[in-house]
Amino acid sequence: MKVTTPGSPAAVTLREPLIGIRAVDAHDADALRAFYASLSADTRRKRFLGTSSGIAAERSRAFCTPDHHHAEGFVAVLRAVGPRDGRVVGHLCLENDGAGGIELAIAVADGFQRHGIGRRLFEAARDWACAEGIARITATAFADNSPVLRLLTSAPMGATIRAADGGLVDIEIPLIEERVED
Ligand SMILES: CC(C)(COP(=O)(O)OP(=O)(O)OC[C@H]1O[C@@H](n2cnc3c(N)ncnc32)[C@H](O)[C@@H]1OP(=O)(O)O)[C@@H](O)C(=O)NCCC(=O)NCCS
Repeated sequence: MKVTTPGSPAAVTLREPLIGIRAVDAHDADALRAFYASLSADTRRKRFLGTSSGIAAERSRAFCTPDHHHAEGFVAVLRAVGPRDGRVVGHLCLENDGAGGIELAIAVADGFQRHGIGRRLFEAARDWACAEGIARITATAFADNSPVLRLLTSAPMGATIRAADGGLVDIEIPLIEERVED
C-alpha cells in the first residue's frame, strides 16, 4: 500500500495492518478534530455538503461519545509509523435518523484515499447496524460524488439513490436480509 503523507512528497509504503479500524472513543476528540482540520477543502466540502473549515471542539467531543446503540462512530487509525502513531486517517459516523434507519457520513484523509479504508469503515458500520437490528443505512451526498456512490452501492443488497434538492442525492442501503443471511 503506497501512501503519500501530507508534508512529505515521498510515497510511504504501509502494510494493511498498519491501519486499524475501531469504534471511536472519548480519547479521540483531539485527533478527530485534527483529522477534519487536515482535510482538503474539496474533501471537507463533500463530507459536510458545503463549505467547512473543520469541526469545533464540542462537535468533536459529540462524535467521540456516541451511545453505541442509537449512534456510533468508527475511526481508521494509523499505527506504528513513528511520530504519527495514533493519527486518525478516516472517520465514519452513524446517527439515528428517527425513522428506523441510521444516517452515515464518512471521510478518509486525502493522502490515504483509494486504499480500502473507506470500504473497511463501511463494513464496520454495516456489521454494527446489522447487530443492532437496524433496517437500513441512509446517507446524503453530492450527485457527482462517484467515489462514495460506488462505495455505498457496493453493499450485498445494493442501494437506492434518489435525487434531492441542491445537487444532492439521498442513498438508502437496506440491511434486514443481510442480517437474516448472517
Ligand atoms: C468516499 C471516501 C470515504 C472513500 O474512501 P476510500 O478509502 O478512498 O475508499 P476505498 O479505497 O475503500 O474504495 C471503496 C470503493 O469506493 C469507490 N471509490 C473510491 N475512490 C474512488 C474514486 N476516486 N473514483 C471512483 N470510485 C472510487 C470504489 O468503488 C472503491 O471500490 P473498488 O476499489 O473495489 O473499486 C473518500 O473518497 C472520501 O473521503 N471522500 C470525501 C468525503 C465524502 O465524499 N464523503 C461522503 C459524504 S457522506
